[in-house]
Formats: sequence, structure tokens, C-alpha cells
Amino acid sequence: MRVLCHILAAYLAVTWVTANSPVAEMRKLPEGLKLGVATASFQIEGGWNAADKSLSIWDTYSHIPGKIKDGTDGNDTCKSYEFYQRDIQMLKFLGVDFYRFSISWPRVLPTGFANKISEDGIGYYSRLVDELLANGIEPVVTMFHWDLPQSLQDLGGWANPLIADWFEDYARVLYDALGDRVKTWITLNEPKQMIIFGYGMERFAPNIVSPGIGDYIAVKNALLAHARAWHLYDKEYREKQKGTCGITIATDFREGLSDTPEDVELGHLAMDFEAGFYSHPIFSSTGGFPERMIKRIAEKSAEQGFPRSRLPELSQKEIDYIKGTSDFYGFNHYSTKFYTADGYKKGMYSIPSYDDDIGAVTNYKDYTPAPTIHTTKIPNGIRKALNWVKDNYNNPTVLITENGYGTFGGNNDIDRIDYYKAYLDAILDAIELDGCKVATYTAWSLMDNFEWDSGLGAKFGLFEVDFDDDQRTRKARLSALWYKNFIAQRSLDPEYMPEFEEKWF
Ligand code: BGC
Repeated sequence: MRVLCHILAAYLAVTWVTANSPVAEMRKLPEGLKLGVATASFQIEGGWNAADKSLSIWDTYSHIPGKIKDGTDGNDTCKSYEFYQRDIQMLKFLGVDFYRFSISWPRVLPTGFANKISEDGIGYYSRLVDELLANGIEPVVTMFHWDLPQSLQDLGGWANPLIADWFEDYARVLYDALGDRVKTWITLNEPKQMIIFGYGMERFAPNIVSPGIGDYIAVKNALLAHARAWHLYDKEYREKQKGTCGITIATDFREGLSDTPEDVELGHLAMDFEAGFYSHPIFSSTGGFPERMIKRIAEKSAEQGFPRSRLPELSQKEIDYIKGTSDFYGFNHYSTKFYTADGYKKGMYSIPSYDDDIGAVTNYKDYTPAPTIHTTKIPNGIRKALNWVKDNYNNPTVLITENGYGTFGGNNDIDRIDYYKAYLDAILDAIELDGCKVATYTAWSLMDNFEWDSGLGAKFGLFEVDFDDDQRTRKARLSALWYKNFIAQRSLDPEYMPEFEEKWF
């Protein structure tokens, strides 16, 4: 008993110190932890109608007046389709081990289907991969970061179960064309954001506002589509190409606002809605949707007069097919939200809906809100989220595929550096003190880009992009100089702040 008390006291002391003090000492990074940066096709490429590329749902959506907060669109963004070689120079300047980018489905398959492969489209990605490798940078490739071909959306997109066939065909094209050189594949980026915001809310393309129904149908189809792409890799490509394939899930942390059993339970439920919805079917030993969600949605559906649950069932065959289909846990994380029953009133959110199914009031406690609120700095949350993955899914290998801080501009971005320092410190705690198996860290983002419904106004870049300049000049922010030093030193130095120097690309 005394030994247990000592262990508990030591644990509480460590937790208290790490939660309450700033980064205190120089910390060496674990051997083998790889460092990189990420972008996504629609957010940086531009070239929206280049060669035979067809429209994506984000082209369509961003062309509708009033949909994008600052009135911008994704037609040109950073023009990386044209200037990708400069992106590679920036990556070299930073000294990254890898670059995570995504492929535009309608650029590679203009009909959406695999009947016709665009030479221009596949050629672009092939050159990008070759030049990364020639510069000693490993490509980490996301197959789908939300820019679905409009032609497939016209047939229902992720709400049509045939999407699993279409996605598998698309995946095969990519493995065939690039798999000799690409060794890390990410099937889908953040199914939650693209589906709950895109099918359940008026916020993202494709703007199918079917809350608590269409979004849940799309989740099931997306999981099956992901699993098809993974099984295809596993059966036909793994042996010859010797790579890995997995999914990236938004794993922001959710917890109860207070210690009341009701709030604590709401925190668990909210974490299931946030991440478990996608991760439980793939990473848990039982498979299937989280029990809490199944129960909650079934109860609410019955109350609302639906003859069956709005959450579609997964058959035992589907459960088994999806289970185990990821070679790593792709983990994106930005912040933590708190959930309480206090003040919640039925009817606060539309009925039915995802938010109504959770049924809570949420906030960021009294943490100083970040300029882009969903990146509010709560570093201990990333450690908790990593532990949530470890505890629920038998400690899988985690690739942190995104983490970053959004502002509305400025080059002297000390707040972004502070965010990175604090989050990296918490990640090192998760690795060293808790035994989480983190293999990569990825900063979002290499440069400012098209931040979805916020347009070009929200800035996440280590590099600032001049969107008024035809050449889209990129300028290193203070955070780029900081990250470069962090990579070179392979240690987290709490004192280090770079001298500003002008560096343009
Ligand atoms: C997405 C990125 C986005 C970032 C910052 C993530 O949810 O994967 O595309 O830019 O968050 O909001």
C-alpha cells in the first residue's frame, strides 16, 4: 500500500509540475523521432482548372458567394502547383525529415473514376515525390484531404456506399503510380471534420445539411472506404512496396468541465463523438462504434420518433473487415474543449444533430483564446489525448500528423513558438513518462494557405505567403527559424529564441 502511495504521489507531482510550469529544462528528443511539416492539396496548390483537372467540391463551394468568411477562394492560393520547387527549397531550409502533402483526386482522375488517369495530374505528383527524395526528404502522402471530385458528389459523395469502390480504385491508381517511392500512405484526413461539418452542418463543402442522419451515414461509408484501401495495400502492394498505410483522425481532447460524475461522463461521451467514432472501429480490440454512442443515439432516435437508430449499424462482417486496418494511428491535435451539463437545455442545438446527441454546453474554460479559437493553447491536453489513444487501443505507434497554431498575421510570431514549445514539451512527457509510442511530429503548416471556410485570412504558416504578389513570395516567420533550429538541435531548448533574419523564397 505504501509503495502504491509513493507511486501515486510521484505521479501527481509530475503531473502537477508538467501541467503548471513552463518548459523548464533542455530536453533531448528521443532517438528516431522524425520531424516534418504538412500541407494539403486544395489549401496550397491553386491551379484549380489547370490541364484536365475537374472541379472538386471545394472549388464549387468556395465559388458560392458568402460561403468563405473573408470572401476569398481556393483558385490560386499558394500556387504550389506552379511553384512546388520553392516549397521544396523551404523544406530543405527547415531541414525536415519528411513532408506530408495530399493528392487532389480530381487532378489525378478528372472523371472521379479510374477510367482515365490524367497524365498532367499524376505527372505533377510524381515530380514532386522525385524531387523530395532527391533532396533527402521523405514523402508522407495523404490520399484524401477533403477535395472530393464534384462528379462523385453529384452521385452522393460519402453518403453513397459505392464510394468504397471508387476510393479503392483511386487508391490503386496511386499505389501503382507512386508506391515504388511513397512508403507512408494516409487514406483519409480527419473524417470528422469533412463529414460532420460537411454533411451535418452549414460550414464545409459539400454543404449537405443533414444533421444527425446524413453525416452518420457518411461516416460508415468513409470507414469502409478507408478499410478497402488498406486491405488493397495489405494484400497486393505491401510485400513489393514495403510501405505502411493508415488513417489520420482528429484527436483533440474532450473532458468534463467539472468533477461531477455527470460532467466526467459527458467528457468521455464527447471524446467518443470526437475521435472514438472513427478510431474505435479500427483500433479497438472489439471493433465497431463506441458503445456509449450506439446507446445514446439509439435512445435519442427513439425519443424523436425514428423507427430505427439514426446511427447506421455495422454488421459483424463489416466490423471484422474494418478492425485492424491501420498500420499506425495518425493523430492530429490542436486543442481541448470542456463539456458540462450545467446550463444545457434541450433545443439549444437543432434536433436531431451531432451536438444535440452529445447534449452539453462546451467551452475552453478560462484559457486565453487563440486568434483561431480551435487552436487555443492547452498543452496538457495533447498529453491526455496521447494517453487516451494508448490506453484505449493497446498503445499503437502514433504519427502526429498535424499540430499548430492559427493567427491573423504577423511575422514576429512568438505566440506560435510558445505554443509549439509547450505542446512539444507535453508530447515528450507522454513519450518519456507515460510510454506513448510517438514516431513522428508534424507542424501544421509549412506556409499560410486556404483555411477552408476561413479562407486566406487565417494564418497557420511557418512561412508567410504574400497572396497579393503574383509570385506568391514566401517569407520565413520567426517560428520557421525556431523550428529550423529545433530540428537541427534535435532538442527542445526552453530559452532559445532566434534572432530575426529576412529569408525569402
Ligand atoms: C485540417 C487542416 C486545417 C487545420 C487547421 C485540420 O483540421 O486537417 O486542413 O488547416 O486543421 O485548422
